[in-house]
Amino acid sequence: MKLLAFATSNSRSSINKQLVTYAASLLEGVDVEILDLNDYELPLFSVDRERELGQPELAKQFLQKIADADALLISFAEHNMSFTAAWKNLYDWCSRIETKVYQGKPTVLLSTSPGGRGGANALEAALKSAPRFGADIRGSLSLPSFNDNFDTEAGVVSNPELDTQLKEVVASLK
Ligand SMILES: Cc1cc2nc3c(=O)[nH]c(=O)nc-3n(C[C@H](O)[C@H](O)[C@H](O)COP(=O)(O)O)c2cc1C
Repeated sequence: MKLLAFATSNSRSSINKQLVTYAASLLEGVDVEILDLNDYELPLFSVDRERELGQPELAKQFLQKIADADALLISFAEHNMSFTAAWKNLYDWCSRIETKVYQGKPTVLLSTSPGGRGGANALEAALKSAPRFGADIRGSLSLPSFNDNFDTEAGVVSNPELDTQLKEVVASLK
């Protein structure tokens, strides 16, 4: 099984990338690829730029990564109660090439933030919209108060209850 994991963040120290990297490690016997959104940076989408640029190679490559995967694990960063601009931009470009961006793949959605809601607004937005864009949602979890519940040195969820919940939700991909 090929698992594609990424955070919807272009921060080089993304806490969502840390979470999704740990979550991906919980599945045994799985071939994991972790993407960095910085490798798929595109100009700010507009219909005018689309006329100039057509279908950007990086957007096609990103869609191909999804096509090649058997399952997706995505952790949503939250900016101003919504998706990050970095994710929305890549997503918009991709959606013009393939409306079903998630291409029917079994998908688990996560989120985290330093705040008590753990990026739940971005996660809720994704849960609402992703099925329309081809996601076969198998489960979701928001990890609140990242700094209290994640051990960044060990790279693991330090809160036992949340760790159990994460293991259960990730196992739904198998
Ligand atoms: C522009 C901006 C807006 C933010 N808005 C929110 C927010 O609405 N809710 C929240 O929980 N955290 C918010 N944060 C804090 C982020 O959750 C925090 O920066 C987190 O590290 C982002 O995830 P990442 O490290 O994976 O990029 C915001 C941060 C920035 C820079």
